[in-house]
Formats: sequence, C-alpha cells, structure tokens
Amino acid sequence: MNGPPPRVEVVRIDFRDERTPYSTRFQDVYFSAMDGISESRYVYLEGSGYLEALTEGRPRIEVGEVGFGVGLNFVLTLDAFLKESKPGQVLHYHSFERFPVHLDDLKRLYAAYPELTEASSMLLDHYPLLTPGVHSLRMAGGRVRLWLSLGEARQQMALSDFRVDHWYWDGFAPKQNPDAFDPGLFVEVARLSRTGSRGASFTSAGWVRRAIEAAGFRIEKRPGFGKKRECIRAEFVGPGIEGTSPLPPWFSGESSVVRPPEAGPVGVIGAGLAGSSISRRLAEAGYDVLIFDPEGPGNRTSGNPLGLYNLQISKKPNPISRFAQAALAEFLRELQDLGVPHHTGILRTDFHDPLPLIESGYPEDSYEITPRGIRLKVCGVVNPRDLCRIRIEHPKIRLLRNRVTSVASTGKGFLIHAEGLPPVECAQVVSTLGADFRLPDVAPPVIPHLDPIPMRPIRGQIILVPPGALSQNLQETLVEEGYASPALPELSGVDAHLIGATYQALTVLPDQEEIDRDQLIRESAKWPEFSGSYPEESVRSRVGWRLSSPDKLPVIGPLCDPDLLAGIYGNAFRGGPLKSLPTVPVAPGEWTLTALGSRGITFSSIGSLLLSDWMTGGRLSIELDLIEHLHPARFFIRKLKRPGIS
Ligand SMILES: Cc1cc2nc3c(=O)[nH]c(=O)nc-3n(C[C@H](O)[C@H](O)[C@H](O)COP(=O)(O)OP(=O)(O)OC[C@H]3O[C@@H](n4cnc5c(N)ncnc54)[C@H](O)[C@@H]3O)c2cc1C
Ligand SMILES: C[S@@+](CC[C@H](N)C(=O)[O-])C[C@H]1O[C@@H](n2cnc3c(N)ncnc32)[C@H](O)[C@@H]1O
Repeated sequence: MNGPPPRVEVVRIDFRDERTPYSTRFQDVYFSAMDGISESRYVYLEGSGYLEALTEGRPRIEVGEVGFGVGLNFVLTLDAFLKESKPGQVLHYHSFERFPVHLDDLKRLYAAYPELTEASSMLLDHYPLLTPGVHSLRMAGGRVRLWLSLGEARQQMALSDFRVDHWYWDGFAPKQNPDAFDPGLFVEVARLSRTGSRGASFTSAGWVRRAIEAAGFRIEKRPGFGKKRECIRAEFVGPGIEGTSPLPPWFSGESSVVRPPEAGPVGVIGAGLAGSSISRRLAEAGYDVLIFDPEGPGNRTSGNPLGLYNLQISKKPNPISRFAQAALAEFLRELQDLGVPHHTGILRTDFHDPLPLIESGYPEDSYEITPRGIRLKVCGVVNPRDLCRIRIEHPKIRLLRNRVTSVASTGKGFLIHAEGLPPVECAQVVSTLGADFRLPDVAPPVIPHLDPIPMRPIRGQIILVPPGALSQNLQETLVEEGYASPALPELSGVDAHLIGATYQALTVLPDQEEIDRDQLIRESAKWPEFSGSYPEESVRSRVGWRLSSPDKLPVIGPLCDPDLLAGIYGNAFRGGPLKSLPTVPVAPGEWTLTALGSRGITFSSIGSLLLSDWMTGGRLSIELDLIEHLHPARFFIRKLKRPGIS
C-alpha cells in the first residue's frame, strides 16, 4: 500500500423523506426515490444473474458489491435468499464501503420499510463497530456471511482474496463519485472474478463502460428501470488483467491443505482461550472436535476471574494495532452471538487526547472525553474462564481431561498420544498449549513442528482486593500502566476488585509473589479509589504465564518444517527472482493458534475465526497484508532473509 489509506468516515444521512436517504457529500440519493426496491431488484439482483443462480439452486453463491451504502441491495439479496434458497445453499456477500452509515440512521430508514423487516433486522442486529478493515458477519445460522470491508474499495480489494459470481457496481453518480468506477478498481474486480461471472450497474456512462470492458468484461446495455433510458450488465470473459497479490508468494493463502469434516475429527490440544475458541469455530463449521486438557477449560493462564477486552492505542496504525482493532470488533460480535456476560466501560486515566483514536479510525461514538480521561465505551471486562466454558458448550465438542504426550503423523492424519488413553486418531491437530510447554517444570509434549517457533513465557500476576469505602462505588475499569476493575461478584464469582498486571520475562525470585503484590498495591494507589491500605490476608494473588512471540503478534496458521523451508528457499533471498518462488510448504493438517500475549480474550476471537477460515479453505477474515505478521513461518523466512538475526 502506498501512503496511508484514505480514512473511513462514519456518515449521517439526510432524509429527503422517511423512505429516501440522501448524501449531502455526494449530492445524490442512495437509491432511487421513485421505487427503490423494485429498481434495485431489477438492476442488481436480476441484472447480475443472482436471482437465476438462487432459483437454479447453485450451492454457493458469491456476490460482490462496490458501495454498501445503506445496505438496501444486501437486504434485498438476503430477503430473496431467506425466501427462495434451498437447504444447503450458502450466500457470501462481499461489500466495500468507505463512508459507512451510522446505525441510528439505518434503524430509522428500515422502520419505514416494514416489508423488509425480516432481512433488515438481521443487518441491524449484526451491524459492526465501524472500524476500518474486514468485518465478517454471520447470519441465518451461518448460511449467510456478509463480508463488509470498510475502506476505499480499490485498496481494500487489493488486500482481499475471494472469488465473485455476481457483481453490483453501485457507487453514486459517476460524475460525483469517480473512484467508485475507477479503471484501477476494475483491475481488482477482474482479479476477484470467476470466469463467467456477471456484473450490473445503474450507470451506462461511456467511460465507465470502457473501464469495465478493459478489465475483461463483455458489456450489454439493457432498458433502464421505469422512465430511465438504460443500465448495463456485463459478463467476465477474462482472463482479464492480473491484479497484484497482497502477499509475497511464500505467504500465499493457498499454502494450506483443506481437510473436510468427513475426513475425521480435529484434535485441539489445550482448552484455554485459544483452544476453546478454535474448537467452537470448527464445531460451527461442522467438524467433530476433541479437546485435550488435563486441567479442563480455562484453568491455567486463561483462568483469571476477570480480564479486559480493550483497544490498543498507538500513534499511527501498525500491524499490532490493526490486528487488535479487528480483534475487538470480532470479539464484540462473539459477546453478542454467544450471549457472554460482560461489564462495559474502561476509563483511560492517562489519556486525554483522542487523536490516536481518530487516526486509527475508531468511530466518534465509541469513546467519550471526560475530565478524568477518555472513556472507551465499547471496551470492558469478561470472566475469561466462563468464556472458555461457554465456547466449548457445543454438541460437536468433546473434552478429554488427559495430558497429551506426543503427536505423530500417519500420513493421512495423526495419532495423538495422551496419558491414560489409547492413541486417538484425528484428521487434523491444532496446538493451543499456551506457555505451559515452555515452562521449565512442565514436561513438554512432542509436537515437532511447534517446537522450533521462537516464543517465550512471560510471567504475570494479578491481585484481588476487597471493596473499600470509595472503591465500592467504582463503575468502570480504570486503566493506565496497570488496571483496576470494579468489584463485580456476579461476573467474577468473587466480591473483590481485580488489580493487574505485572509483566516479567526475567528471573523469578523466590518471594516474587509478595514483591508483585506490593507493587500492584502501590501502583493502584495513584487512583483515589484504591489509596487505602489492605490487611495482608485480605489480598489474594494469581499468577499466570503468557506466551509471547518476538514481534508481539500471535502465531496463527499452518505449521511448517523450517529445514524444508531452508532447503526450498535457500539462497533465493539473496538476489534470486522472488516472484517465481513456491508457496510455503506446510505440514498438512497441523495448525496452531498461540502466542496470544496479553490480549488472549480478543486475539483468540479473531485468531480462531481466521484459522477456521484457513482450515476450511474460505476467505480469510482480515486484510491479507496482516497474514505475513501472523504466519507461523514468518520467523524462519525472516531468518533466511537476514541470516544474522537470532
Ligand atoms: C496476569 C495476567 C493478566 C492478563 N490479563 C489479560 C486481560 O486482561 N485481557 C486479555 O485479553 N488477556 C489477558 N492476559 C493474557 C491471557 O490470559 C492469555 O493470552 C491467554 O490466557 C492465553 O490463552 P491460551 O489458551 O493460549 O493459553 P492457556 O490459558 O495457558 O491455555 C493452554 C492450555 O493448554 C493446556 N495444556 C498445556 N499442555 C498440555 C498438554 N500437554 N496436553 C493437553 N493440554 C495441555 C493447559 O492446561 C492450558 O489449559 C493476562 C495474562 C496474565 C498472565
Ligand atoms: C449509491 S450508494 C450505494 C447504495 C447501496 N448499494 C445500497 O444498496 O444501499 C454508493 C456508496 O458508495 C460508497 N463509496 C463511494 N466511493 C467509494 C469508494 N471509493 N470506496 C468505497 N465506497 C465508496 C458511498 O459512500 C456510498 O455509500
């Protein structure tokens, strides 16, 4: 990407009347004022061949759209799907929008369209936190997936990889909105089109037609709706113009081998935040899952009584802050989808200037400036142990309370050896061991391809202190260097504030627990609520071990053999042609989701979505340039590029 991407801006719409939304910025209506529903159905659903594919019973229908707007095309597409689809049919709707509309305006608009209530209420219920990047919204029991990419369409497309059968090109009038019809955008459209895919637009402007044709489509004019003269439909007769892939060849999304649910169960090792999360996603995708964990769900590091789901503040967006942003948005969806109890509200008492939040694209109504600091209205606390338990409550998930000692490949699948069990056959394995296997006093299981990844344990401690005269009234979690939660006995199971957390990679002293307890008490006294003293016996401590990678990002994806990588890439990084290199050779069926660091709650949520999409061969749920910051092979590739680094 050259230069920073254009900012995403949440917009309010002007209502010409209750049924006619208008954009002052583009001086145009979002859809026709005369009979918007019939016109959109005619131009897009019919013109792009979507309705035909639906009635033919095409098993998987992929629609692409430039300009999500108020979502009318989506709602109509969904409405038709809900009414006419056959069992087993699925709909993927990939839409791009740089100026997403505020939820309150959508609610007002759809209140005036009672005939669309069933579909529009699904959109309103799932409408995301309007942050830049990809939002993957699952509806109708997972049969419908809306991929809403917020950002400039052409740039967002360049960071995506999927294939479309039916396109809706629905910018505002091309004169006012040339970037929505830019020739460069259609180059990306062509890259994302299956041969034979069809597209439609309300406009038949000459320069727009030429841009679409140049990208490899054959265009046909058809009569416009009502009094309008004409509109267009197009067919992709490709190969078109090859677009640029967002990934270097060695990280290409194709570097995995998909094994369907029928191939056999997936073995997940570890039932912490990572293991519970990937188990749930896979179960929802139809896989049988066996989770191995002698401690049960969320009883090691993931077992604190409370944990924060928080956003990451950084001066400029970077891979970690972008991943954390996607993670927060996905976690908010999970909270809602699984009905996870939570307590909202974080006050950053060290932070008064909202500029970094604006730069990162957090919508204005997601925070509030107060005299005491910035209130993050979309962040809060959950009980991580309960979250793990809720995640694995699914008929396709079976928990085995046994310690895994080794994993051996059989070629077609794996034999998982665990204490007290005969070897268990699984088609695939996901390692989510957390820091345990790197602790000196724990015998590590033998998982050959996990072992070489450079990750280290980081000790952390929290304390639980009883509510005092001032602190008992605290309603939100205070955050600066550390954090202090309100006392939330119903959520946490203890009538105490949780104060955290220490961070320590170096030597652990024999009396570390007391040292850390005193440090946490001292540090929290900066907040008046916690300036009192506590009798020693009233303070309880809990210690856990985070697992962290050298670049502080999680490790997510297929495992691979570093020796094999070195053999294949060998000298290529010293001047050889990079383009012709093969993709990373992965160990088929071996995956990991780990190194969640200090953000296991939200990182497990987006990480498991990403990994389950990867394992099932679907579109990946983040902007693709982030993959090279998450892929388990990245450390080996970096080392091959710069052999001097350790
Ligand atoms: C003090 C502290 C405070 C924190 N606060 C927050 C916070 O506020 N918000 C937040 O998002 N994150 C927080 N974190 C980070 C978060 O807790 C971790 O990122 C998260 O728990 C990691 O989850 P995991 O599933 O990777 O690891 P774990 O929770 O450690 O789970 C790994 C599981 O694997 C099992 N296992 C290990 N070996 C084997 C084996 N051989 N066979 C079978 N099972 C095995 C273990 O029993 C364990 O249950 C905090 C961490 C600490 C230490
Ligand atoms: C006519 S409206 C789309 C109506 C929409 N299809 C619907 O059914 O409600 C055009 C939309 O394109 C968006 N848009 C314009 N230029 C864009 C760009 N370069 N990238 C992404 N979205 C863009 C506008 O913000 C607007 O929401």
